[in-house]
Amino acid sequence: MAGKVTVVGAGFYGSTTAMRIAEYNIFDTVVLTDILEGKPEGLALDMNQSRSIEGFETKIIGATTSADGAGYEATANSDVVVITAGLPRKPGMSRMDLIVVNAGIVRGVAENIAKHSPNAVIIVVSNPLDEMTALTQIATAFPYNRVMGQAGMLDTARFTHFVAEKLNVPVASVSTLTLGSHGETMVPVPSRCTVGGVALSEKLSEAEIDELVDRTRNAGAEVVALLKTGSAYYAPSAAAARMAKAVIEDSGATMPVCAWVNGEYGISGVYLGVEAQIGREGIKKVVETKLTDSELAALKVAAEAVRAKQADVQSL
Ligand code: LAC
Repeated sequence: MAGKVTVVGAGFYGSTTAMRIAEYNIFDTVVLTDILEGKPEGLALDMNQSRSIEGFETKIIGATTSADGAGYEATANSDVVVITAGLPRKPGMSRMDLIVVNAGIVRGVAENIAKHSPNAVIIVVSNPLDEMTALTQIATAFPYNRVMGQAGMLDTARFTHFVAEKLNVPVASVSTLTLGSHGETMVPVPSRCTVGGVALSEKLSEAEIDELVDRTRNAGAEVVALLKTGSAYYAPSAAAARMAKAVIEDSGATMPVCAWVNGEYGISGVYLGVEAQIGREGIKKVVETKLTDSELAALKVAAEAVRAKQADVQSL
């Protein structure tokens, strides 16, 4: 066991992420923070009391923080920081509707994190995801490789679930991919989807695939509409926790994430959902995959949509 991870925000997404990471039993310490006094401490106490049952030694520390930076000492010298801070969607809202309020919250968090953990790798999950990831890089002034966002793992997992459910096959036999933004311009990539090694297009009609693609693009909103308060957190936290694990283990695993793109796919200077190798330095390398002409065109549309919004967040 080695290393320290901080999870900022003890809502459902943050607390579930902290619990999953602790149960991996690979980090020495998980720090969970929140601005609600006592909440992170209470959750940490509860999680620590599960250690002997679940059999993990990782210690969870809860710390109440405030926007002026009080309490952030507990996060000092984290190796990995997961930022979940901000408001979730309400039914009927798009992720983009959160941009102004969450930009203020995420900027403050990012500045405080940078002060106390100047060498951390940051995984952003706050929405709107691609924009909050770009803002975190600006606010921390960290190198691009040390700031990334979680979305592609989640969107891909949702796509995989829908395909497995439709065909009534084990999820383990299904491989899918989504790129682009975590929003309207999400780009599910059917040409990279297989079931038991066979192309998805041989298992489902174009219309059936389109239906699953649409459901994937709206999967977050589907959960929000059912929950009525708050947004999804079980699948999102699984994705964020796996990314933190890949960083601390320096695994080099290739995952779909929101990463700074600099020339790949003919796109430059924007945070975008792509596949990348993850390791101790954050993004080791963006990995280009072969796309059909229409998938590549959709990725470029996503890049320009995100670029425009990322320019807006600079002033927020
Ligand atoms: C979702 C939120 C977490 O997609 O972005 O469920």
